[in-house]
Amino acid sequence: MKGVILAGGLGTRLYPLTYATNKHLLPIFDKPMIFYPISTLIQAGIKEILVVVSGPYAGHFIRVLKNGKELGVDHLEFAYQEKPDGGIADALLLAEEFADGRDICVILGDNTTDAKIKDSIDGFQDGALLFFKKIEDPESLRRFGVAVFDKDNKLLKIEEKPKNPQSQFAATGLYVYDNKVFDYIRKCSPSWRQEIEITDVNNHYIARGKANWTNLSGFWSDSGTFETLYLANSYWAKKHEDRQNS
Ligand code: TTP
Repeated sequence: MKGVILAGGLGTRLYPLTYATNKHLLPIFDKPMIFYPISTLIQAGIKEILVVVSGPYAGHFIRVLKNGKELGVDHLEFAYQEKPDGGIADALLLAEEFADGRDICVILGDNTTDAKIKDSIDGFQDGALLFFKKIEDPESLRRFGVAVFDKDNKLLKIEEKPKNPQSQFAATGLYVYDNKVFDYIRKCSPSWRQEIEITDVNNHYIARGKANWTNLSGFWSDSGTFETLYLANSYWAKKHEDRQNS
């Protein structure tokens, strides 16, 4: 399995912070944001990683990550997304050559989690594996893709940013795909916000009965708003302090 971290986008919700550099290089406690998804992949035994970057500060990644060796990455590659806000699936399409027919574990570059995903990844066979998280707060839930289940708890589809969420399970920015993902991306048209949506790609897998899901245990948050950036900083700072005191 290879790893793909999506670190394109413009980070407009974090202006003025992202006027100076890329969102994924902003600090989460004592490390740049992108170190966290890298560490999630490394802990799962994935050491060949592609980082998709875009926007005016794409070059800043090299200064921070260098060749990845200090972080335990065996092989680090970069791809450049021409349209910085083309959408998550548009960014993922750039990973086709890197994937080279193999399965991939995809993480959004602004997500941090302390969940251990190795067992789920080791058990992956084909199709898609989607990591969901139960979100209690309805306002937060509406920012995500939200799962819809039938009465027997079978996953029917994911609705992107629904006004009336049908469950409390949000799709996190963590997915495992087989190599069909690239064909499914090509089948997707831009949404109303002119993005190729990862939710549409996931729905292709669900419609074909090829999507499994699992609960992401532990802390998980994006860091794309001031509130979630602060939340993630607080969580990781506290975790560090707890470790020092134990
Ligand atoms: P978003 O937070 O949806 O988009 P963004 O990072 O551009 O921020 P904003 O909405 O504030 O302008 O993106 C989630 C993650 O997906 C983020 O870590 C970057 C990645 N991404 C890409 O790689 N390419 C893209 O075209 C988009 C939209 C996001």
